[in-house]
Amino acid sequence: MRRFLVAPGGRLSGRAAMPGDKSISHRAIMLAAISDGQSRISGFLSSMDCLATRAVFEAMGVNIADSDAALVVDGVGLHGLQAPAQALDLGNSGTAMRLLAGLLAGQAFDSCIIGDASLSQRPMGRIIQPLRQMGAAIAGDAEERAPLNIRGGQRLHGIEYHSPVASAQIKSCLLLAGLYADGQTTVREPGVSRDHSERMLAAFGADIETTERQVTLRGGARLHARDVSVPGDLSSAAFFLVGAAISPGSELHLPAVGINPTRRGIIDLLLAMGADLSLSNERILSGEPVADLTMRGGELQGIDIGGDAVALAIDEFPALFIAAACARGTTRLRNAAELRVKETDRIAAMAAGLMTLGVEVEVFADGLAITGTPQGAAFSGGTIDSHGDHRIAMAFAMAAPRANGEIRINDCDNVATSFPDFVTQARTAGLAIDSAAAAT
Ligand code: S3P
Repeated sequence: MRRFLVAPGGRLSGRAAMPGDKSISHRAIMLAAISDGQSRISGFLSSMDCLATRAVFEAMGVNIADSDAALVVDGVGLHGLQAPAQALDLGNSGTAMRLLAGLLAGQAFDSCIIGDASLSQRPMGRIIQPLRQMGAAIAGDAEERAPLNIRGGQRLHGIEYHSPVASAQIKSCLLLAGLYADGQTTVREPGVSRDHSERMLAAFGADIETTERQVTLRGGARLHARDVSVPGDLSSAAFFLVGAAISPGSELHLPAVGINPTRRGIIDLLLAMGADLSLSNERILSGEPVADLTMRGGELQGIDIGGDAVALAIDEFPALFIAAACARGTTRLRNAAELRVKETDRIAAMAAGLMTLGVEVEVFADGLAITGTPQGAAFSGGTIDSHGDHRIAMAFAMAAPRANGEIRINDCDNVATSFPDFVTQARTAGLAIDSAAAAT
């Protein structure tokens, strides 16, 4: 088991290179694999989650080669995937499992998808139910969790689905199934979720139309290969933005980070807290907005967060809670029950870790209230259990600049699911972090 040891104090400065966007990397492999022709994916995130996606497509007969820091994918067309010889293992990745379930529901062959202990506990009824309405033959265990068994050869038909949660994973699952369905598949959501699938499906030639909370895809259209440049991952950048924002004297530059409006919640929340964050050189990279980010350390103010703002920053709350603990006043988050069904229960895990470090926290069923310490040490030292959740581990590492003792974080192997280079980049930026093997 990997463990992080982070010495207190310091600040973050210079430039740090952010890894490729995880959501976009998964989608790029999937769409390239089922399109006609050869696609080149540059900036692909070679993390455990995205490599699991790569491996399952290779197991279904797709040729994927590494070439000059890019992946070259020989698409097999909409109906060219081959039956895998064994169960497809998606490791820790909820995105890979849910999106792939939609795609596999439309194939001629049977398949089974499995994941690690965390992924096997996560809710899959949210995709099983609508996929069945489309005519899919898919089953989980008695509690609608993985393993997911999918019987091929079903005739799928489009549906109009009103999703109970704003979830890009549910939406994308149904759109991928919709590629194979007769008629049109419409997904309506109660809030805005990330739209990477819609952007990329349109770029690959799918027949798709979107409005703010609704998307419609007409099945049957073949996809055409295209090159994709993956921007830096704002969800990974969030840890560095927070580390710099809370440490006086910091000035950190993060080039070429994705700022898609359906993902940029953390930027707007940190700005609302008074962070000294600037965006420059805004441009479009393969249909996705990108900017260079500069964060300077300064004083933060607590804020109230709820409603539509939650989905726009859903993966960034572990990092944001660290900022909240360093802000003047109280930060309250509500309407965020989805955080309880991520890689771990992020409300419980963050509350426990913050309390271990001496922070005043109130826990709600759907959120947290955190009372901050605006100056001096906001955290004591202590030992944190990340529960094997990459984002919990990276969030607590970034508390160190404002701690007065060493922070030890257990169970950090899964940082490699999204950010294999985290320790190196954090050290380069100035964090005194070591990663050590520890007995389990
Ligand atoms: C993701 C969507 C989000 C997010 C996850 C990645 C995606 O999940 O938490 O890390 O790539 O579609 P939900 O859509 O279920 O909220």
